[in-house]
Order: sequence, then C-alpha cells, then structure tokens
Amino acid sequence: MVARLSFQTQRFPVKLYDFHPPVEDFRSAVLEGLSLPQKAISPKFLYDKRGSELFDAICQLPEYYLTRTERGILQTHAHPIATCLGGHTLVELGSGSSQKIRILLKAAPQVRTYVGVDISRQHLQEACLALMQDFDALDAIAVCADYTQPLPVEQIPEIRDHRTLGFFPGSSIGNLEPMEVVTFLKTMAVLGELIVGVDLKKSATILEPAYDDAQGISAEFALNLLTRMNRELGANFERQQFTYQAPYNPQAGRIEMAIVSRCDQTVRLGEAEIHFSRGETLRTEHSYKYTIEEFQLLAMEAGFQPIQVWTDADQFFSLHHLKQI
Ligand code: AVI
Repeated sequence: MVARLSFQTQRFPVKLYDFHPPVEDFRSAVLEGLSLPQKAISPKFLYDKRGSELFDAICQLPEYYLTRTERGILQTHAHPIATCLGGHTLVELGSGSSQKIRILLKAAPQVRTYVGVDISRQHLQEACLALMQDFDALDAIAVCADYTQPLPVEQIPEIRDHRTLGFFPGSSIGNLEPMEVVTFLKTMAVLGELIVGVDLKKSATILEPAYDDAQGISAEFALNLLTRMNRELGANFERQQFTYQAPYNPQAGRIEMAIVSRCDQTVRLGEAEIHFSRGETLRTEHSYKYTIEEFQLLAMEAGFQPIQVWTDADQFFSLHHLKQI
C-alpha cells in the first residue's frame, strides 16, 4: 500500500498520509455484500462526508448516551488517564471530529504528536487542523486509512519511530464481530498500549432508542448509504422504498441495524441487478455490547493485559487501558 503524501495545501496545512482505498474497493465490496443470502455492507462505507456529519449529529442526540457518558468518564478521570499517555505519540483510531481527544490533550500537555486515523479524508483534515489551531505545541498528523486493516506503520515515521499509545474511543470496537475484535487488537499490537472505549450491556429500553431515535437521524445515517451508492456507483436505489430498523438481540448481545425493503423491487447497480423482496433486510451494522469481563477476555486472547478500567456511575460505558503482554 503506497501512501500519497500531501503537505500543507493552503486549505489544509496538515501533513496527510493518504491510504484511502480506491472507489473500486467500494464497488466490489457492495456487489459482494449484496449477493450474500443476508445482504450486508460493511459499516465503514457509512462514513462519506454526509455520513460523517450525520454520525456527529447522532453523537449529540439525547437518546445516544454513549458519547456523553464516555466524555464524562474522560473528564472525571482525565488525570489518571493522562498519566498513561506519558511521553507517547497519541494515535487515535477512527478519530472522526476528534472531540474526545481534546479532554486528554488538555490534561496531558506533555503529548507533542497526535496522529488521527480515519477513512473520511476531509473530515479528518479539518479535525487535525482545528487541533493544531487550539493546541499550540501540538503537531497533528492525518492518516487517511481504513483502521480495521493493519496500519502501514513502516510508512508513517511518526508511529514507526516512537513509543505510541492507541486511543480507540466511542465503542467503535463494538462494530466488529467478536472474533474480528481479537484480530484487530492483534494488529494493534504495534501500538504497544491502548485505551479502548467499550459500551456495556444494558436494558433494551435504553439501547434501542439510542439506535433508532425520535428525530430519525439514525435512520437517515443508514439510508445515506443508498444515496452514496447512487452517487458513487451509479445505482438507482429509491430512498422512499426503504426503511430502517435497529432491534437489540439479547442472545447475541448486539444491536442489529439494517435497511429494510418496503416492497419487492429490483435495483440496478452498474451492470448488476439486485432483487429485494418485501421486508428483506440489508445489514448495515452490528453494535456489540459487552460486560467488562467479556471484553477483557477478548483483549487477553489478543495478547493484551488489562491494566485499568474506568466506568461511569451507571456502568453504562467503560474505558479500558490495555498493555501488550
Ligand atoms: C461508531 N459506532 C460506535 C456507532 C455505534 O454505536 O455502534 C455507530 C452507530 N450507528 C448508528 N448509531 C451509532
């Protein structure tokens, strides 16, 4: 994987390593996902520019307790957490708009280098630029990449040549299947230490509205995938012919988000024709919820030692400090 390195254009005076996968990857992933018996598209494709904006809006929703709860934990425990950062380069995976990292950067002025890794290039560049403007002594580097794939660290000297700590907030790890969590954590061993946000198991009456809110932003976020496929792949999905659902499956311990076809219909995607029956689902995301012990077991399976866990008073959310064994 060869990075395109672009420095300090006038609009974005931020160092960027660009490993963005080509459009072809999106097309082949979609065609493959739509040919499965259970149609499914990886959640990473939800985050085009509009998708990233909608996800930011989800994080502000009253029903979506995850963001504010995690932020509360970071604020309450900022100093002990900042102590873990020591003189590390801070690598944030799936950095999005990089809001939570600000709490840590304020508490850890010794951190000199921040590396944001995200698939949404423009969003990432804007976030890194804003961090450099607000933290004078900080160098913020943007790595546009799919963080679920092994990071090409040999091409990123800011990671390769330094002691690093990976920050993976937001319970994004919950969007991986449990076996993928182990694989993912193993690939993150290059970072040495991790702080990972993990949403905890709780009642469906709290979980379901968080993923299917009254304003319909969560639905809009999922359905934006249809708009993206129309725009980027020349598909002809009709948005009004699809709806959204997000039930909690307590046996599997996950929210199952899906786009649902309202009728029997055939959609064209380039040369391909895809049939949907009425009520058929296209899975967009799983969002797993764990107990503290369940997550620690996965971390240990991946070769990490659990060092510390911070939670909120309601035990809704957890932040895990892990060190490579
Ligand atoms: C990014 N990830 C942690 C979110 C979640 O809670 O699973 C994605 C999301 N999708 C809809 N709402 C939130």
